[in-house]
Amino acid sequence: MKSLIVFFSLTGNTRKIAEGISLITGSEKRDMKCGEDAGDIRGYHIIFLLSPVWNGKVPGPVRVYMEKRSWDGKKIYPVITNGGLVGRTYQEIVGLCPGARVAPPLSVRFDFRKQRTKDREIEFWVRDVMRRNLMS
Ligand SMILES: Cc1cc2nc3c(=O)[nH]c(=O)nc-3n(C[C@H](O)[C@H](O)[C@H](O)COP(=O)(O)O)c2cc1C
Repeated sequence: MKSLIVFFSLTGNTRKIAEGISLITGSEKRDMKCGEDAGDIRGYHIIFLLSPVWNGKVPGPVRVYMEKRSWDGKKIYPVITNGGLVGRTYQEIVGLCPGARVAPPLSVRFDFRKQRTKDREIEFWVRDVMRRNLMS
């Protein structure tokens, strides 16, 4: 099944994780910062949705990106980069994609620019998603 990575990143952490996932899956990446130019999500069934936490919530640009698109029928795999306090970010993501099935999130912990969650933990999670969705 066709998969897409959509991400938002202000200071580079989430972008780095998006690039790592793309190397494993071969999926295309879309930067939510590009707004309308970030293109269409139609035609993709599996979406890796990567977002940082801002003040316990989804950053505004992620909210706007999600509100402008239809997520109906899609399977969403959220990846939440954070400094240890995820707050209501996951619940907000679920609320922003009505009609989608949203898997439990992968939390990727950073202390500023230093990644604390191990790459092998992320890779294990990604490979499990691929297996479940017959992505080879
Ligand atoms: C404005 C702002 C607010 C943040 N608020 C939180 C927060 O509430 N909880 C948390 O765990 N991390 C918080 N962080 C840390 C980021 O979520 C974390 O560093 C993330 O990996 C940044 O991703 P990026 O480098 O892709 O922008 C905040 C960062 C910024 C810039």
